Amino acid sequence: MRLDRFISMSVGVPRKMAGAIVRSGRVQVQGEIERNCKRQVALSGEVVALDGEPLRAPGHTTLVMNKPKGCISATQSREHETVIDHVPAKWAHAKLAPVGRLDKDTTGLLLLTTDGGLSHRITHPKRKVEKAYIAGLKAPLEPGAAAVFEAGMTLADGTPCRPARLEILTDTTVRVVLTEGRFHQVKRMLGRVGGHVVTLHRERIGPLVLDPSQAPGEVQPLMPAQLVTLIDALQGVGEQTPGEK
Ligand code: URA
Repeated sequence: MRLDRFISMSVGVPRKMAGAIVRSGRVQVQGEIERNCKRQVALSGEVVALDGEPLRAPGHTTLVMNKPKGCISATQSREHETVIDHVPAKWAHAKLAPVGRLDKDTTGLLLLTTDGGLSHRITHPKRKVEKAYIAGLKAPLEPGAAAVFEAGMTLADGTPCRPARLEILTDTTVRVVLTEGRFHQVKRMLGRVGGHVVTLHRERIGPLVLDPSQAPGEVQPLMPAQLVTLIDALQGVGEQTPGEK
């Protein structure tokens, strides 16, 4: 997309005004000032900034939610509060859908997007995008539980699971890192090694870590630089995050 069009759509100003903004030297592409309105920018690949502030690419909206307890990962429901009920009114016009699902009682990182392609790429098991969860347990796990996760277990109903990582953080707190997203998977896997989950929180999807200062229920736009990092990871670039073993 031409740079002046990108600015016009992203900032919401007429094309002529966008052209003037570009020519005035207030726009950077990938950190370099760009005065050429005809410059082509990749919607999902390049960071365009105005006065040093990264702009969201026009077209799609992707939001980062710290999902609170008590709402379901659906777009509408007659019986339950949904994650969409927590989206501020300024995004009410967008046809947002959750990327994958978290259980009603699970908290943490949930993406909401209008971009079905992005959603598919994040959730498709073939991509093996890591999802990291912190689980609070009623009691300590059986000894050797991490090895059972590492070997790839079979759930009680016969469902095979890919090898996963289990890190013991305290007697009753663990981190589980999966590359797939089956129904109640963390709870069911921990159940196989004697664990009863009392709290569950997703802290990471691929390279995207939930900002601990983002309160439950709070929604933030995914910034262009974060989107670029996510897209890089979906293309197979490393997904390990510093701080995790
Ligand atoms: N695994 C679960 O058991 N629940 C979730 O919400 C997500 C992963």
